[in-house]
Amino acid sequence: MTIRDVAKFADVSITTVSHVINNTRFVSEDLKERVMQAMNELGYKPNMLARGLRSGRTRTIGLVVPDMANLFFAEISRAIEDIVFNKGYSLIICNSDDNPEKQKAYFGVLLAKQVEGIIFISTGSSQDYIEQLENSGIPIVLADREVPTQLADVVLIDNEYGGYLATNHLISLGHKRIACIAGPSELTPSADRVNGYRRALCEADLPVYPEYIVNGDFHFKLGEAAMLHLLDLNPRPDAVFVSNDMMAFGCIRAIHSRNLVLPNDISIVGFDDILLAKASSPALTTIAQPTQKMAEKITELLFLRLESHPSNTKRKRVILKPELVIRDSTMARSS
Ligand code: RIB
Repeated sequence: MTIRDVAKFADVSITTVSHVINNTRFVSEDLKERVMQAMNELGYKPNMLARGLRSGRTRTIGLVVPDMANLFFAEISRAIEDIVFNKGYSLIICNSDDNPEKQKAYFGVLLAKQVEGIIFISTGSSQDYIEQLENSGIPIVLADREVPTQLADVVLIDNEYGGYLATNHLISLGHKRIACIAGPSELTPSADRVNGYRRALCEADLPVYPEYIVNGDFHFKLGEAAMLHLLDLNPRPDAVFVSNDMMAFGCIRAIHSRNLVLPNDISIVGFDDILLAKASSPALTTIAQPTQKMAEKITELLFLRLESHPSNTKRKRVILKPELVIRDSTMARSS
């Protein structure tokens, strides 16, 4: 099925069909309708790459996220895809699997597919990745995780404040032995959340016990293992700030496996407020990330660059605030 078949079926010139597909010249509504009708009837799909090579526009955006199995990334991808689609663009979503080599490989794939811009939730900040970013020649927005470059717009949340909010909530409930299960220490969101945890304890003149800070990896299994380790300590913590919801669900399983009752025996606060946080049992007290607002800001900055000359928009850096959502996994410390 070619563009010629469409022109013949619609009884218009090949040029008219091309202008309708590439939106490169005004075509009357009547002619446009005949061409669209012919394409539907014939099942013709324009070759996006060939079309891009001709018009220099593929109207396609790339998005790279670290872990599609984590609902946080699924939810923010969905929000971004909604906005991109409604602006007449397609979105290619790549899963880097927390693997910097895979991230680099996908970067190459997206450039080969002539995407017009890329949104990264980065895994690692190796020098060659930063050089890839800076030499790509297309608009890039970095979200959620910092990368040391001045050449890309950035949309983050205030993770230190989120860790502070979570820990302060536990302190307000009277907890004194508060532990923290961190994410990967090399990732800025995790390190900043732990800093917020430390600041809340210091401001309340509560001790920061080194053995109460355990490293996780943002995944369920290590969250469970980290909680089992904390429960074996003597004295065990009476509350835990967990640096993301997926690890918090692992903690819930660990607490139940030890026949302890959440929150009566121990309180936990998560981070992200993914959809499952309200469905878990008990429902998870957590720090809500403004996912929809992040998606709107990420795409706003990207399209600002796409629709005006990239060099004339100063690099933007936006930091949004998370919020505490109190549910049933925390309660006042029993004396
Ligand atoms: O749950 C995954 C975590 O990694 C989230 O907290 C998000 O901030 C990302 O950095």
